[in-house]
Amino acid sequence: MKWRALIFLLAIPAFCLGFGDGVREQSLREAAQASGMLVSTAVRPAQLSEAAYASTLAREFDMLEPEDALKWEVVHPQPQSFDFSPADQIVDFASRHGMKVRGHALVWHRQNPKWLTEGKFTSGELAQILEKHIKTVVGHYQGKIFAWDVVNEAYDELHPGELRSTIWRDQPGIGLAASGSSYIERCFRWAHEADPQALLFYNEAEAEIMNPKSDAIYAMVRDFRQRGVPIDGVGFQMHIANLHADVASISGNIDRFTALGVQVHITEMDVALPVDDHGNPRPEDLQLQADIYRQIATACLSHPGCTAIQTWGFTDKYSWIGSHSKQTQGAALLFDRDYRAKPAYQALRNALEARKQSLVDGR
Ligand code: XIL
Repeated sequence: MKWRALIFLLAIPAFCLGFGDGVREQSLREAAQASGMLVSTAVRPAQLSEAAYASTLAREFDMLEPEDALKWEVVHPQPQSFDFSPADQIVDFASRHGMKVRGHALVWHRQNPKWLTEGKFTSGELAQILEKHIKTVVGHYQGKIFAWDVVNEAYDELHPGELRSTIWRDQPGIGLAASGSSYIERCFRWAHEADPQALLFYNEAEAEIMNPKSDAIYAMVRDFRQRGVPIDGVGFQMHIANLHADVASISGNIDRFTALGVQVHITEMDVALPVDDHGNPRPEDLQLQADIYRQIATACLSHPGCTAIQTWGFTDKYSWIGSHSKQTQGAALLFDRDYRAKPAYQALRNALEARKQSLVDGR
């Protein structure tokens, strides 16, 4: 009797790990091998000491990106001092687990420190500050961060197709406001000087479908490529807040950008669900969410130039959606608050496995 009980107890963890039928289930990163696509997620350094967070991250993903640790307010808190320690923790974690690192974001109008936004600098001073920032941060991570979001969200929501008014463009700007996207060009050139090997991306929100914003970005990227401005890729954030994705339009958009010779990364995917007072979504919404993850992954996988899919966090325990939606939405990611895989996780993994199989079959 005792032996039987012991065998039974030993069998439980083995079964849970998927050994029950002799086949261990693949992780996302294993399923993604051979597909040519990286699976990635945004990471918070404070959570790396949590065992379930760290083990899930290392097991499932082959790339990561600091969610906030490389933004100006964290990395450049004082005019003359940089603080690399939070991002360094993340980069060290990646190197210990064989993961690539994306950097986010060198130039943005948000999460900037007060010394910068309230410093009343002239355009000439701002240009010097920005050049020094880009070259110091990119230089610090040379050889460790393989791709950067150089400029984030430069186009406006309210005036579709127009550049946003920001400290970098025209308030007072770095001195190139009159000539359209040339301030963005300047940033890419500085980043390239700092690390000629790094892949340089333009990253944007709400430009994943064909619309005036993505049209304007397309025109900019085409112009940059024609004139040899060092741009290697475009990031589409993919924050989906209404359980709807126009996959045909997303796919067409990926088509036209990759045809310019740039890579596309899905950079910040989450699919926010309405939640009750306890933060719980409706079961049927979890299925709809899974379907969206599957469709977006499949759209990316079907374009050789779409080379990464990154979620904006991976556990519903830590996600920006709660505070961003004033707690009306949540449950946007692949794992629940207890690190249990959700239908969205299965859907993403199935999409990766289907791609792997079609490559094996020569399709
Ligand atoms: C968000 C982070 O997730 C939050 O932790 C932070 O408080 C605010 O910024 N677009 C971006 C990301 O490019 O940097 C933002 O990240 C989400 C929207």
